[in-house]
Amino acid sequence: MASLTIRNLDAGAKQRLRERAARNGRSMEEEARALLGALDHPASGDDSQDTAATALGPTPLREADRTVLAGKRILLIISGGIAAYKALDLIRRLRERGARVRVIMTAGACEFVTPLAVGALAADKVYTDLFSREDEQDVGHIRLARQCDLIVVAPATADLMAKMAAGLADDLATAVLLATDRPVLLAPAMNPVMWSHAATRRNVAQLQADGIALIGPETGEMAESCETGRGRMAEPLQIAEAIIRHLVPGRRPLKGRKAIVTSGPTHEPIDPVRYIANRSSGRQGHAIAAALAKLGAEVTLISGPVTIEDPAGVTMVHVETARQMLTAVEHAMPADIAVMVAAVADWRVVHAADNKIKKKPGEGPEPLELEENPDILKAVGHADDRPAIVVGFAAETANVLANAQAKLQRKGADFIVANDVSPDSGVMGGTRNAVRIVSPTGVETWPDLDKQEVAMRLAERIASALVGNEAGGALQQGSR
Ligand SMILES: Cc1cc2nc3c(=O)[nH]c(=O)nc-3n(C[C@H](O)[C@H](O)[C@H](O)COP(=O)(O)O)c2cc1C
Repeated sequence: MASLTIRNLDAGAKQRLRERAARNGRSMEEEARALLGALDHPASGDDSQDTAATALGPTPLREADRTVLAGKRILLIISGGIAAYKALDLIRRLRERGARVRVIMTAGACEFVTPLAVGALAADKVYTDLFSREDEQDVGHIRLARQCDLIVVAPATADLMAKMAAGLADDLATAVLLATDRPVLLAPAMNPVMWSHAATRRNVAQLQADGIALIGPETGEMAESCETGRGRMAEPLQIAEAIIRHLVPGRRPLKGRKAIVTSGPTHEPIDPVRYIANRSSGRQGHAIAAALAKLGAEVTLISGPVTIEDPAGVTMVHVETARQMLTAVEHAMPADIAVMVAAVADWRVVHAADNKIKKKPGEGPEPLELEENPDILKAVGHADDRPAIVVGFAAETANVLANAQAKLQRKGADFIVANDVSPDSGVMGGTRNAVRIVSPTGVETWPDLDKQEVAMRLAERIASALVGNEAGGALQQGSR
């Protein structure tokens, strides 16, 4: 069983653990052990239960992240949706990253959260009134519109987006949004039917054509009803990450780090013209290599045969078979990070023919004798010079979560990115992916995202984990 040090958990995680323990009538240590036990003995094959899904919450804030938004001025507009309560957490996330946050609330927003709570978290006055005598003496709405680096609307209601698309300015929020020359990021949040309504579709298209950026909405359960669908506001941390990407585009937290990424399928020859292959396009692996490079890592991308272009800014190694891929990985070691995305063929033909196997009329096909290929992820995860962060992918068509959890320990990985590649998911060969991140501290379910977005989020997560590991992980799994 794993050894753990609760004392080393950050205050937030400790508090959540305390609350869980109290709810379940256990000591904190018993509760932590129960969580780890859930990972050791996952509910067999039942993917509907994220047994440890809530686990211990987000990774502690890295020291470098405490200043990532230093000097940046964010104007946050909160409009009147049920997700307004999440704006409180967003303010906290932005301020702990060094940003100055000014807030405008619509009249609708004030029905959901109070300006008092918002002002206390922002440590500033909250603006609500367009016709304020106090603020409008020096045309306050123009000042608010210009004295910021970015305007973020979270949550952005259907109503507010409609007004923006039409260029209305009948309250402080809309007047500021019309009077600004700063970039604007919207985090829409609404009922799925509102989101898919033709009017909202038109308004979103208009806003995007006007150069306004959107994050989310996500697919999931609605806060106010039992409905599920697309319309849930992106989580505050995701919005904070999008803001950082917007405001600090050249940030390179992985500068000086070496990363190895494998991508694509492998081809295992049967004869000179035939081979065993799979449907992997290499899109996800290539996007991860590019994302790690964007964050400053020196990346070696080892790719099986694919038809997509090599990403810029990485060292490419093209291979065909699993054994060639393993040799290339070993050659690229040591590294700080290894992300094994390639869909490596499990088996190869024992004796690939030197010449094309000829069909013999009247005789059936010759049986193919197969043998197991090397397990590249396991080899890296258990290597003497194991990278500090090892990430594996679990492409499954059934029991996705249970298989990923089992893989985590067996392969010696820090994270397993689990994805469902059953034919109707469209993941293999497609441009989108819905993944779950399985780690010793829990399971995170990410929404259905573009593969580039999955890659960027994973690269950010790897950067956090790398620094977290160096500071001494809060919970350590006993064996790797
Ligand atoms: C309980 C409740 C929840 C609501 N949640 C949302 C929501 O999540 N998204 C949305 O677009 N509108 C929502 N509305 C409707 C808005 O509050 C309404 O359109 C309002 O005029 C928005 O004003 P604002 O855009 O100026 O803030 C909700 C209304 C109520 C009463």
